[in-house]
Amino acid sequence: MNLLEVERLNRAFGGQTALHDISFNVGKGQRLGIIGRSGAGKSTLLRCLSGLDRPQSGKILLEGEDMATLPEARLVVLRRRIGLVFQHFNLLTSRTVAANVALPLEIAGMPKALRSKRVAELLELVGLADHASKYPAMLSGGQKQRIGIARALAAHPALLLCDEATSALDPETTESILALLADINQVLGLTIVFITHEMDVVRRLAQQVLVLEKGRIVARGTPADILDANQMAAILPPNLSQTPQDGSHAIVRLTVGTQALCAPLLHTLEQQCQARFALLHTLPSPEGDGQVDVVVQADGLSVSTMNALQAHACAAEVIGYVPAHS
Ligand SMILES: Nc1ncnc2c1ncn2[C@@H]1O[C@H](COP(=O)(O)OP(=O)(O)OP(=O)(O)O)[C@@H](O)[C@H]1O
Ligand SMILES: [Mg+2]
Repeated sequence: MNLLEVERLNRAFGGQTALHDISFNVGKGQRLGIIGRSGAGKSTLLRCLSGLDRPQSGKILLEGEDMATLPEARLVVLRRRIGLVFQHFNLLTSRTVAANVALPLEIAGMPKALRSKRVAELLELVGLADHASKYPAMLSGGQKQRIGIARALAAHPALLLCDEATSALDPETTESILALLADINQVLGLTIVFITHEMDVVRRLAQQVLVLEKGRIVARGTPADILDANQMAAILPPNLSQTPQDGSHAIVRLTVGTQALCAPLLHTLEQQCQARFALLHTLPSPEGDGQVDVVVQADGLSVSTMNALQAHACAAEVIGYVPAHS
């Protein structure tokens, strides 16, 4: 069962596209990593998933409810199903550790006695039971992030969203925070979606990975699929541009039933449409069911060829263009 289903999400800022037709699912208890260059749209995506920002179009179904269109009053309630962890912890310096963790429970109106019990539980879980009455300034970066995590877990969320949760930490502390997140995922069955620019974090924590580039998903798969240097080079041609030049080749992503269907499909279409396709890459599709995402370079792509691709594949989308000589 999917906890989160994102369908054709679009978000623009003043005519500038930040997210374009983003679709993916996250199963309950899964750990999904999101990577991509600076400005690719990662934080924008996470803000939409957290209900802090609304997309212009598309659906964000959390446990079946669409956050993109939910009335504000209901969204406030649904947001309690989501915990957020930030790079710079965002703790209140004037509150003790315990009071920081208690904050979301206070806002939710939980009675004081229950709150204290829950806070004690959470501090135990993140290994800070002895630090309840300290202030954030007295703690290390790793300890601050543990408080951030405890606070995010306070209201028993179904989904934990982390934006660069370990980026401000040294490698050893990163290691211990990753171990804590993995533990929480295992013990509580919590679904985790995280952004990182550290490939090691992807390798350690992700089961599935999305690669964002200029607001689009350009690759998805397991960490092993994505992090293989050759595959990465194949997925993201370094000279990929968003606009066609004279005689440039289109890079197209197709989703097909199985890998075996892809080669005959391309061969048939080459003959029918006078186009030529070079296979760049295949990845298991996150849609599951044995579907495969195939990245091809198309020479002579016309509207009718694109229509034919869309008719024969489960999905077809131009993700960019490369110069003719490459
Ligand atoms: N509130 C906003 N107003 C205008 N433009 C925005 C806003 N938020 C994001 N953008 C633009 O949307 C694009 C994606 O930004 P985003 O912050 O999501 O990138 P990112 O992948 O998180 O980058 P980084 O790795 O640097 O954090 C950028 O071009 C950015 O300038
Ligand atoms: Mg960001």
